[in-house]
Amino acid sequence: MTRLDEILSRINFLPAIHPTFSRALDLLASPDSDARDVVGVIQYDPAISTNILRLCNSPLYPIQRRISSLEEAVVYIGFTEVRRMILLIATEKIFTKTYPGYEELRGELLNHSVACAVISKRLLPLSPPLAADLFTTALLHDIGKMILSDFVGEDYERILGRVKELKCAFSEAEQEIIGTTHAEVGARILQSWNFPEEMTEAVRNHHNPQKVPNSPLTHFVSIANIIAMMMGYTTGIDGLSYMGFPDLYRRYSIKEKTIEKIMMTASDEIATVQAMFS
Ligand SMILES: [Fe+2]
Ligand SMILES: [Fe+2]
Repeated sequence: MTRLDEILSRINFLPAIHPTFSRALDLLASPDSDARDVVGVIQYDPAISTNILRLCNSPLYPIQRRISSLEEAVVYIGFTEVRRMILLIATEKIFTKTYPGYEELRGELLNHSVACAVISKRLLPLSPPLAADLFTTALLHDIGKMILSDFVGEDYERILGRVKELKCAFSEAEQEIIGTTHAEVGARILQSWNFPEEMTEAVRNHHNPQKVPNSPLTHFVSIANIIAMMMGYTTGIDGLSYMGFPDLYRRYSIKEKTIEKIMMTASDEIATVQAMFS
């Protein structure tokens, strides 16, 4: 059994994402289902239905009129947006759950992830149209770290030691010591939870976006990740160990001035979204 298999087998002990989420994601991806099918699944889950209505009427989703029925919400905002909401609700649950052994990293990882998500939202106007949700993908991009810190605690300390010692990238040290990376572990978790393929791919490659030249979602998560680190939202010593992506800035015409502006103005929104998850 490889180290990755061993880690992944331990992940099976993680409480699985609720079957309703998986079933709803399946239906939302199928061309044969309609709003009634989706409501048929999500209506029995008070967390999903209440949250969809709450999110529909919150400032995050500035819809002009008040929505009070679930079917109306699904028809009105469309499948893409419902999927986005279900993923966001699932993500909120993942982040607010307590994992033993993860407490130390929890605060800074949450801050880093939220910063990355808020920054990604600001970069969105510069991206081509994306099939999957950038905000949620950015929020989840480092979920593998949460799992690694929890399930391979001792090795995690060794990885941190190696980064300090060699001043290498966190992923390199992970590969050397445990034979896999938080990016791969995160991607496998999302896969097992039935999250969309584009999101899985972006999580897998967020430190190597050049590996997927046709995935703007991956590229924008990678860029947002670097900007979050430049703003100081890092997970410990990891922050200084990654380089930027000048090729991507050129490809998407992202100017230095734009990055500076995001860095100067995103903090308040980051704090607001952090409060949602605390
Ligand atoms: Fe990462
Ligand atoms: Fe990150």
